[in-house]
Amino acid sequence: MTGRLEGKVALITGGASGMGAATAELFAAEGASVAVTDFNAALSGSVVDAITASGGIAEFFEMDVAREASVASAVSGAVARFGGLDVLVNCAGVIGVDKPTHEVTEEEWDALFAVDVKGVFFATKHAVPHLIERGGGSIVNFSSIYGLIGNDEFTPYHVAKGAVTMQTKQDAASYGRYGIRVNSVHPSTVLTPLVEGIASAYPGGLPAYEEMMTANQSIRRLGRPVEVAYAVLYLASDESAWVTGVNLPLDGGYTAR
Ligand SMILES: NC(=O)c1ccc[n+]([C@@H]2O[C@H](COP(=O)([O-])OP(=O)(O)OC[C@H]3O[C@@H](n4cnc5c(N)ncnc54)[C@H](O)[C@@H]3O)[C@@H](O)[C@H]2O)c1
Repeated sequence: MTGRLEGKVALITGGASGMGAATAELFAAEGASVAVTDFNAALSGSVVDAITASGGIAEFFEMDVAREASVASAVSGAVARFGGLDVLVNCAGVIGVDKPTHEVTEEEWDALFAVDVKGVFFATKHAVPHLIERGGGSIVNFSSIYGLIGNDEFTPYHVAKGAVTMQTKQDAASYGRYGIRVNSVHPSTVLTPLVEGIASAYPGGLPAYEEMMTANQSIRRLGRPVEVAYAVLYLASDESAWVTGVNLPLDGGYTAR
């Protein structure tokens, strides 16, 4: 049986941890050659080791998505190593400060936007010429339910993820003529290191946090990284050849209400 990404080359930003790592592992298991990129070299190394130990193909390329030169060099390194690029997954992200607009400093705003918005812009900018050269490809952006709806927390993060939602639609409209599809995934709360940190600081810890965060969901539990990775796999593969410009909620029914 051939894998669902057999023969494809995929580059994942933020591949060292959480949903990026789960996506890298699933992609490799489905036959892709995976460029695992992140600014955390140590963690990325264990993701690459796990993939190669189970017979997959992966290599680490250091990338800080907030710095264009770093993005350009990692993308060209991956293309040189694997001979081209078919799939870009923009997963790197940070959550930033939990403040309402009037309390956020300019530095806090800029730091968050540098990663969550400019990072998607830089990686897309440098990947697109290689996807065009290949005759097409797929870009999957990580937004959030917070890029679709508002609430009263983490304001800069909401606004940044809203920008990713629109970058997805705009790039889908622009690049269809080159055979490039662009879609985004919008998880509600998924149990990753990013969330574990927040949950452990919550009164009552993870169980109380899970109860509170899933109160508006139809399926009242936190998501698992692999449950998101399977959606990214579909959007990256040729199975979704007619799907572009879609902002797909993966949220246990949160936004259905
Ligand atoms: N966990 C959730 O509940 C949740 C929900 C919705 C959306 N998201 C989004 O999904 C994506 C992945 O989240 P996660 O929970 O798996 O996070 P995570 O913290 O486990 O992993 C994020 C990765 O991004 C990397 N990263 C951060 N800044 C970077 C930079 N400047 N350059 C390169 N790499 C950088 C980190 O080193 C880390 O490996 C993020 O974009 C996040 O905003 C997460």
